[in-house]
Amino acid sequence: MNFERLGQQLNQQRTNDLYRVRTAVNGGNQRQLTSGEKSFLNFSSNDYLGLACDEQVKLGAIDAVNKYGAGCGGSPLVTGHSRLAKYLEDLIKDLTGQSGVMLYTSGFAANSGVISSLLTKDDYLVQDKLNHASLMNAGSDSAVKMQRFAHNDMASLAKQLQSKTSINASDRLVVTEGVFSMDGDGAPLAEISQLCRNHHAWLMVDDAHGFGINGGGAGSCAQANITPDILMATFGKAIGTSGAFVAADKEVIDYLVNFCRHYIYSTSLSPMIIGATMTSIELAQQPCRHQKLAELIGYFRDRASQLGLAIMPSSSAIQPLIIGDSHRAIAIANRLKEQGIWLTAIRPPTVAVGSARLRITLSTNHQESDIDRLLTALAEAVNDTQSSDYNDR
Ligand SMILES: Cc1ncc(COP(=O)(O)O)c(C=O)c1O
Repeated sequence: MNFERLGQQLNQQRTNDLYRVRTAVNGGNQRQLTSGEKSFLNFSSNDYLGLACDEQVKLGAIDAVNKYGAGCGGSPLVTGHSRLAKYLEDLIKDLTGQSGVMLYTSGFAANSGVISSLLTKDDYLVQDKLNHASLMNAGSDSAVKMQRFAHNDMASLAKQLQSKTSINASDRLVVTEGVFSMDGDGAPLAEISQLCRNHHAWLMVDDAHGFGINGGGAGSCAQANITPDILMATFGKAIGTSGAFVAADKEVIDYLVNFCRHYIYSTSLSPMIIGATMTSIELAQQPCRHQKLAELIGYFRDRASQLGLAIMPSSSAIQPLIIGDSHRAIAIANRLKEQGIWLTAIRPPTVAVGSARLRITLSTNHQESDIDRLLTALAEAVNDTQSSDYNDR
């Protein structure tokens, strides 16, 4: 039989507790989700501001679909660049202070597209070690010379920028996330921006997890008071919809419109998504939402430390508890599931080997009593599954 390795590799995944399955759920974007007949308190959604099911956001989608239909009818250079899409781009221009913006159907496509179309074999790409898979893949799949710097380590970044390869390169691009998706900590954006300027390198920030929350909703760069050369953010996290944007100088956007194949050869975002996203971006700027999230984060961290849970240092909605071993992480997640709590274990290769974790995400949909329930169950499960019973891998 051909392709026998497929089955072999799947078996290997099962043996290592790394096998992935998709579970059909209802309410993955809500406080409470259901799977089969059972209902679970949801601590794994990226809908940090509770906007995915907001009535006004839904009306934004309904209004757009009534006016413009369900799909956009084409790719952006044919018929897909609608007036509605342009309104959204203009809204983001105002919010980010950039002179050009373009929309993508996903953050993965945006990251892959930007890096693969902008960089050549003569250039040098430097990425934070913990950058998202879409950024890493884009770099390793293209001809550009890529290096990684130690996470948030400015000395390591400076060393990369001073290297012979960097000095000999035509152009240099440094890429970091604004808020790191699996650790929840923020990048020192002002320092990175300064280093880039000192070394004549461009800076790209992927603010998937900061846009809508930090900087009054404008994102982590606004908060750090920097304007990166390229800003990417997704709508699928705090904004509660899907898709992404790239914001940059107009000439960069014009270049991408002409040369980025991920953009040119893909059907544009649907009017439904754009309508919902426009409403959502407005709502995401309401200070009361940020305040509620900040209060829940503070409450969570205080309670977790009272219970002796070593949550990673993070002031964002992403609050990871490192478990280390994948088997143990799964065992804890299963224990929580038995108690009606949905908290997905994150395992390699999404995170480094030996750093499997429970990535707790908080949302304004949560109540303090939900956090109490989670943390009590989590502390028990951690105590009952001793690390010595598992092989660190
Ligand atoms: C940091 C980061 N960048 C990019 C993406 C990809 O965005 P999308 O889900 O819109 O493809 C994600 C999503 O998980 C992410 O966390």
